[in-house]
Amino acid sequence: MREIRAALFGLGSVNSNLLNILDDREKLLSERYGLSFKIVAVGDSSGYAFNIDGFDKNFIVSHKESGRPVSDLEGYTAKYQPLDDIDLLFEATPVEPETGGEALETTREALSRGVSVVLANKGPVVHAFQELKKLAADNDCGLEFSATVCGGLPVLNIANRDMIAGNTIGFSGIFNGTCNFILDALAKGMSFEDAVTEAQKVGAAEADPSLDIDGWDTAFKLLILANTMFDKDYKLDDVKVTGIRNITTDMIKKEKEKGNKIKLVGKFENGSLTVEPTAVPVDSFLGNCDGWEMGIEIHSDIYGISYHKLYEKEPIPTAASMMRDAVNIFAEI
Ligand SMILES: NC(=O)c1ccc[n+]([C@@H]2O[C@H](COP(=O)([O-])OP(=O)(O)OC[C@H]3O[C@@H](n4cnc5c(N)ncnc54)[C@H](OP(=O)(O)O)[C@@H]3O)[C@@H](O)[C@H]2O)c1
Repeated sequence: MREIRAALFGLGSVNSNLLNILDDREKLLSERYGLSFKIVAVGDSSGYAFNIDGFDKNFIVSHKESGRPVSDLEGYTAKYQPLDDIDLLFEATPVEPETGGEALETTREALSRGVSVVLANKGPVVHAFQELKKLAADNDCGLEFSATVCGGLPVLNIANRDMIAGNTIGFSGIFNGTCNFILDALAKGMSFEDAVTEAQKVGAAEADPSLDIDGWDTAFKLLILANTMFDKDYKLDDVKVTGIRNITTDMIKKEKEKGNKIKLVGKFENGSLTVEPTAVPVDSFLGNCDGWEMGIEIHSDIYGISYHKLYEKEPIPTAASMMRDAVNIFAEI
């Protein structure tokens, strides 16, 4: 049995679900993979807490559910990021879109010390994928981020691990549920502002949905996919990004008459990366990715055209992906 001393930075929806999964699947993880996860450090916006004996996972979840911060926990420290004496960091803090922010610094620091990192936060790999990959290799530790693209859909694993010796010719996908909801609401005749409010009401949009609406969240995912699939170092400047702000009910109606729906599509084709509202046939794969669904079609020279789709309303599949990444790093499968 190998005990993994883990830190969780960010204790919102994703990492709380991860704690529930690690608790619920404890026996299975130990019997099937020989792994036991001990949570020795946690962090939220109030700071960090460290407990060498391990925090009780349910206790941390209920502590946060009751609205209390990490600063109320025993072992609290305002400044120190507890990266000593740990094997693994689960990073699920909010994305800092411009630079990758503190999460990128923390990921660098962890990998430099030989601490493996599992990310749900896209920022670090959007801004420094090649650098972080090299740091992990140089320091003999793991870096996994399958949760960053399409939540629980293991698309990065399928493309990078399972399509062995294949050449991906191109791919396109719908990676952002918020835009799906807004476009659906526009199709029902709502104004753009009402459509955003509706998406916020059902929990599909953040209070500030601009990263989604302006296409950046889709661009982040497109970039992560392209860089890992082709082992490249594309930057955000390489992606042509158009969001959905200028889409009107009239445009959607006109496309409907032609048998199309408008979707925000991220696409890699002939070496170009684009995110733009695209008319797709209603009966096509992408035309059928609605609401809480995300999907991708991958064109490969020897693996045909494959279609992958996920329905994810709560981030339980995203959290499960983080657990899967950790098992892939530490278990001998
Ligand atoms: N939700 C999803 O479906 C989903 C899917 C895939 C990927 N992701 C990504 O996963 C990450 C987490 O998402 P989420 O939905 O769990 O977010 P969330 O519910 O908003 O939780 C964010 C957590 O990060 C903490 N935090 C904020 N700033 C911090 C800092 N500087 N240091 C340490 N902790 C900090 C917050 O602290 P407080 O508790 O004190 O506010 C909170 O606990 C994001 O990057 C998101 O893009 C989310």
